[in-house]
Amino acid sequence: MYKYLKYLKKYTIKKNLDMIKMTMDYAIITQNLTKDFGNVIAVKNLNLKILYGKTYGILGPNGAGKTTTVRMLNSIISPTSGTAQVAGYDIITQSKEVKMNCGFLPESPGLYQKLTAVEFLEFIGELYYLPKEVISSRIDELLELFDLEDRENDLLEGYSRGMKQKVCLCAALIQDPKIIFLDEPTSNLDPVAAKMVKDLISDLAKKADKTIFICTHLLDAAEDLCDMIGIIDKGVLKVEGTPRDIINSVNAEDLEDAYLKIMGTTKIEDLLAWREETPNNNEISKKKKKKRKDKK
Ligand SMILES: Nc1ncnc2c1ncn2[C@@H]1O[C@H](COP(=O)(O)OP(=O)(O)OP(=O)(O)O)[C@@H](O)[C@H]1O
Ligand SMILES: [Mg+2]
Repeated sequence: MYKYLKYLKKYTIKKNLDMIKMTMDYAIITQNLTKDFGNVIAVKNLNLKILYGKTYGILGPNGAGKTTTVRMLNSIISPTSGTAQVAGYDIITQSKEVKMNCGFLPESPGLYQKLTAVEFLEFIGELYYLPKEVISSRIDELLELFDLEDRENDLLEGYSRGMKQKVCLCAALIQDPKIIFLDEPTSNLDPVAAKMVKDLISDLAKKADKTIFICTHLLDAAEDLCDMIGIIDKGVLKVEGTPRDIINSVNAEDLEDAYLKIMGTTKIEDLLAWREETPNNNEISKKKKKKRKDKK
């Protein structure tokens, strides 16, 4: 009996150590992560394991659940069920630690319009308890990188959309986070700025060894940047793998071709069917119009 208890203790300790080691290797782990908004299931039983230092791209059509996933992973909204650990912290019970270790570029960031870029970034730096001199030198570096030094003392209300997006990227990077979440980082940016952001993401991943979780519709950028890709549709992870694996799995030419094959181009053909002016289609269209009229 004693021998058995000793074995059990040893086994339990080993299992716990294995669990801790596994958690330490992964920047993000989700377990059956689910979010409902009333009747809408935005994310359903999502299971992800993302190693530190990797760039993970999440792709999917509008309304697939990408933003909802990153909002949960940044402890901004709570899951309906399931859980996740980010940087080793539980997104529900350790939300402060999660936020301290992550940088987040939201899809529609809110900015304090009556602050200048420098004032806004100082404010964000202070939220992370960074020393004043660190904040000041990071702001200088970031504003130079994003070509905003000339306008740094202008109020944000006078910035263009792309300039605001750049300031938000600076805010996501100011505390030099371990894990960076980027929700559509190149939206609103001109081609030169978009290319710069793409290069920056690549540098952060390769040279600074950051973990990056990126939501994007830009499939060529995802193919170049991401070590792993997850394709999500109606809240469910449909496919996961390296870009090459996904391309090969459907005999596609590139990731865009693979994505269209996986998501079904037939959907697009259906949507465009109205263009074909065949008598049959006209009949269907007339019937649909009549039905709508009758409803009114
Ligand atoms: N606060 C909310 N209240 C109600 N429904 C919501 C809310 N946020 C998201 N949803 C719903 O959850 C689903 C997933 O939305 P989400 O914003 O995560 O999609 P997405 O993949 O980021 O889409 P997009 O590519 O358009 O940004 C959608 O059906 C959306 O309407
Ligand atoms: Mg979104």
